[in-house]
Amino acid sequence: MSTLTMVFAGMFYLATLLLVVGLAFKIYDYSRTPAPLVIPTTPAPTTQAGVVYRMAKEVVVFESLFKANKWIWVFGWLFHFGMLLVLVRHLRYFINPIPEWLVFIQPFGKYASFMMVIGLAGLLARRFLVDRVRYISTPSDFLMLVLILGIGITGMLTTFVAHTDIVALKTFFMGLIYLDVQPVPQEPIILAHLVMVALLMAIFPISKLLHAPGLFFSPTRNQVDNPRERRHIAAWAARLDQK
Ligand code: HEM
Repeated sequence: MSTLTMVFAGMFYLATLLLVVGLAFKIYDYSRTPAPLVIPTTPAPTTQAGVVYRMAKEVVVFESLFKANKWIWVFGWLFHFGMLLVLVRHLRYFINPIPEWLVFIQPFGKYASFMMVIGLAGLLARRFLVDRVRYISTPSDFLMLVLILGIGITGMLTTFVAHTDIVALKTFFMGLIYLDVQPVPQEPIILAHLVMVALLMAIFPISKLLHAPGLFFSPTRNQVDNPRERRHIAAWAARLDQK
């Protein structure tokens, strides 16, 4: 087995470990964070079903971002929805046999990469061009955008310009899953794609990208607006009451 293959296999095992353990820890931590007050942003739903509908609108159409800023909404939504299609298309590298619906969405995923990259370019341009935003932008804001843009561009180069051996690539990843390491393809562009993906996986649990699971723990979005019907008692206060 070549050194390159061993390095890439080790890199992906480590990145997966950091991603899974880091994310599990963060989600556990979020779930234990007290929400002592009822603070849903009004107008807010007054039933649990209403909260589910509100969260669904946040996740699918980014409702509050739409109300806040149309430019960020356009680019943000293009990027996220494009990336979703791209990632679903990527499932073909990790499962066998490939179901019919996954074959069907392949072309959509392929061209969704344009949506993804245009969205990211818009979000990055905003950080340079809008004075107020440039002033509050930190290096990590730029790092995440540049990293995901790098993944998108190297992916598109592989798809549209310098192809790689997809069968060999799938054999490598299926080998990782079944603990039977196989040679990694050697083309520099796909290797750059994979290095950046592993880096993204490793830093995801300590990055701003945690807004993805974090959204579901946001009291201003996930609480029912019923303080007149039900008295809200924080978990720690309820324990004191029982004493
Ligand atoms: C271990 C994980 C990944 C593997 C093995 C992988 C592999 C690949 C391969 C082989 C291609 C070329 C497809 C072709 O030639 O038809 C590609 C394209 C692409 N990848 Fe990835 N990739 C991974 C993760 C990601 C992630 C996390 C993103 C986005 C954040 C991404 C974004 C893209 C894009 C935008 C394209 C071009 C459009 C397409 O063909 O789907 N990739 N990737």
